[in-house]
Amino acid sequence: MSVIIRGGTVVTADTSYKADVYCQDGKIVAIGENLEVPPSAERIDASGQYIMPGGIDPHTHMQLPFMGTVASEDFYSGTAAGLAGGTTTIIDFVIPSPQQSLLEAFEQWQGWAEKSAGDYSFHVAITWWDESVYEDMGTLVREHGVNSFKHFMAYKNAIMADDETLVKSFRRSMDLGAIPTVHAENGELVFQLQQEILSQGITGPEGHPLSRPPAVEGEAANRAIRIAEVMNVPIYIVHVSCKDSMDAITRARNEGQRVYGEVLAGHLVVDDSVYRHEDAEFAAAHIMSPPFRSKEHQSALWQGLQSGNLQTTATDHCCFCAEQKAAGKDDFTKTPNGTAGIEDRLAVIWDSGVNTGKLTINEFVATTSTNAAKIFNMYPQKGSISVGADADIVVWDPKGTRTISAKTHHQNIDFNIFEGRTVTGIPTYTLSRGKIVWANGVLDAVRGAGQYVKRPAFNPMFDALKRHGEVNKPTAVNRD
Ligand code: URP
Ligand code: ZN
Ligand code: ZN
Repeated sequence: MSVIIRGGTVVTADTSYKADVYCQDGKIVAIGENLEVPPSAERIDASGQYIMPGGIDPHTHMQLPFMGTVASEDFYSGTAAGLAGGTTTIIDFVIPSPQQSLLEAFEQWQGWAEKSAGDYSFHVAITWWDESVYEDMGTLVREHGVNSFKHFMAYKNAIMADDETLVKSFRRSMDLGAIPTVHAENGELVFQLQQEILSQGITGPEGHPLSRPPAVEGEAANRAIRIAEVMNVPIYIVHVSCKDSMDAITRARNEGQRVYGEVLAGHLVVDDSVYRHEDAEFAAAHIMSPPFRSKEHQSALWQGLQSGNLQTTATDHCCFCAEQKAAGKDDFTKTPNGTAGIEDRLAVIWDSGVNTGKLTINEFVATTSTNAAKIFNMYPQKGSISVGADADIVVWDPKGTRTISAKTHHQNIDFNIFEGRTVTGIPTYTLSRGKIVWANGVLDAVRGAGQYVKRPAFNPMFDALKRHGEVNKPTAVNRD
């Protein structure tokens, strides 16, 4: 199977240039002008369009069992919707229940993900701690290509990791050459505020942002960053939603600490007025954590992307339909947290970022694809238009338009947080490992065609520290 893309402009995180791109057997095999290819090659005319690496969404939750229900989008429908929007790889989360073996949970998620239409990889959450967790983290890194571990600092009495777990897991990640990631919200504060707000008789969706003010996020981000500083390990903060956590990241980076931050397309363009909407069902559909913020915080997020203090964009794609959201009708704390976006991330960020002059086209590629590939160690197999890379490609029409709607999207959810937004800049073709899966509005996703992407440990850093005798030193932190 081979495909030639002619007449377009290749756009990478570094540069832009006119060239044809030839793909064979799932890989990019040649880039250049007027490439000669066999007549049997499928042809794509990309005149006037951009040829970019397929999007990488480093934060999704397909078919996640969460808050008493299961996310409506499964690995097939979710990755297929991603392909329709130009996203070719996801990193989803294995989230073991407290006391569940990490390896057992990993196998469970692998089983669910076999039906994926696009490529996938996994972060694994550390939701509890004992000697088996310590051992399983090693097995996941060495045998299963996991190089990132997630810590929920919120969701008390469920999956929240306390400080002891953070410290032990961060140290273990460091020793293994893996990167810890955190959902930064102070879970105790959220819990206490929720009780206070409910006791004041506020039970509707407007209570959700009140229980999770920006300071709650800022405190947790700063704490996680400081713990990472002491443990001497890099750290990645997921879904940074406000100035408070932005400031913690910026300060640490200015001090030379290796801290990375992710922002969601939703947090960039949807503001907190949604929670005060007269239709409570509409408001509940926006319940996610951290919540949508005021425009002032949105400006800080854009500045974070522009300054490079935030490196990646994601969606936290976690779908719950209206009847699932209704579980919180009389108590906002029971509403399953999560919103969708995998299909719309690229177009929304192009439209609100590139078309407004906030981002260059190369920064667009960096923040929607390449940076995630680098941070999570799958570059240049992913996130790159280069010979030898996987042929995960999006052909992008900067003049094409689409009006986003739940009526027409491919996501398995009855709501769209970007409903009614007309975006300029859309994918005309998506290639997943060299196969055309989206062509001018027609989706040809194949159940099970997606492949698991192994991500090796960050050994260079680990080896360097070992050489300096740092890693094998006895530490004050116990294993269990
Ligand atoms: O509200 C959210 N974000 N739901 C998914 C789980 C998480 O916190 O990432
Ligand atoms: Zn989260
Ligand atoms: Zn999430």
